Amino acid sequence: MTAPENKPAQTLAALGAAQPEQVVALFTEILARFDADSAVARDEGSWKHLRDTWLGRKSGVLTQITDNWLKPATSELKRVVGQELNKLRAHVEAQIEARKLAIEAGSDESALARERVDLSLPGVTRPVGSHHLIRQVFQQIEDIFVSIGFSVVEGPEIETPYYNFEALNIPEFHPVRDDMDTFYIDLPEGAPTPLLLRTHTSPMQIRTMEKRQPPVRVIVPGKVYRRDNPDATHSFAFHQVEGLAVDTDITFCDFTGTIEYFVKEFFGPGVKTRFRPSYFPFTEPSVEFDVTCVFCGGSGVSAGGGTCSKCKGAGWIELFGAGMVDPAVYGFVHYDPKKVSGFAFGIGIDRLAMLKYGIDDIQVFFQNDLRFLRQFP
Ligand code: DAH
Repeated sequence: MTAPENKPAQTLAALGAAQPEQVVALFTEILARFDADSAVARDEGSWKHLRDTWLGRKSGVLTQITDNWLKPATSELKRVVGQELNKLRAHVEAQIEARKLAIEAGSDESALARERVDLSLPGVTRPVGSHHLIRQVFQQIEDIFVSIGFSVVEGPEIETPYYNFEALNIPEFHPVRDDMDTFYIDLPEGAPTPLLLRTHTSPMQIRTMEKRQPPVRVIVPGKVYRRDNPDATHSFAFHQVEGLAVDTDITFCDFTGTIEYFVKEFFGPGVKTRFRPSYFPFTEPSVEFDVTCVFCGGSGVSAGGGTCSKCKGAGWIELFGAGMVDPAVYGFVHYDPKKVSGFAFGIGIDRLAMLKYGIDDIQVFFQNDLRFLRQFP
């Protein structure tokens, strides 16, 4: 802060000041220097530095002036040096005190401004997310089946061919495998078994029966994979809910009753249902389950009068595959096919959601477009 040439460190004689006017001029110069120093002391730290520089007992500017100018002054100059020094001291002390008060007031004010809380401002609202439509449909299905005594289990998405195919009565060269081409994991040479992304949730039938004895009543929500090219109804990843009920006395009537109950709960009591014979290696007999078209009410005629585009005029929509568990499957899990019977079904969730909510492209489920997702809060 102080100038490089430090005049207070030298005597008046050394500074060549022999006349009172020269002394007064020197004091005027020092006072100006103080004012400049004092103007930049705006916070506590710089204020302390100012105080120590000017009032420090050992080497403050005023002490230096006393030691170097006043004490050795000639008797002619002593009086004027004394007077000027007193004026300077009064000015310096008053200014330093004034700056202190100003800085304290300023910091109080800025602290107040900083901490002021405006209670009339609206709060910060954080957007609340919601479940994806697929997750919501899973939940609806789980609620319906849990209410009639099923429990929910989940299984691995990476499976062995044994669980995905063989134990479901689909041997290696069975033509059904053609519809279920999937993704295989690259494994090191000599791996004990190939691994694949499951093509359906049915492997969990096997895993569940291996672990539990009848009665078994489970549903299995989950993701499944196939090597399908993406279009409006195909995706390489999609969702299913598997169902399995096995006990000592389960009949085809229990099966139809359960499925019909589910469909009416899910789509509403107005829909009609029907079975068509079908084929799956792990069920016998196998059925394809249809509902009356939810868009045209089963008439096959659209609201505008033309053919309903959703069911193509049939009035029926194919919903999912199901059937009575093939006795061969029980052999893989060491159940006695003479003692137990049961049914199984596999529901495609994406398709179900598309039907229920009138969505015509499966790809929207995977694109994460908020304009779509926000329609299902
Ligand atoms: N797993 C079959 C598929 O993905 C669907 C299926 C059909 C599951 C009949 C079943 C069933 O449990 O009984 O194509």
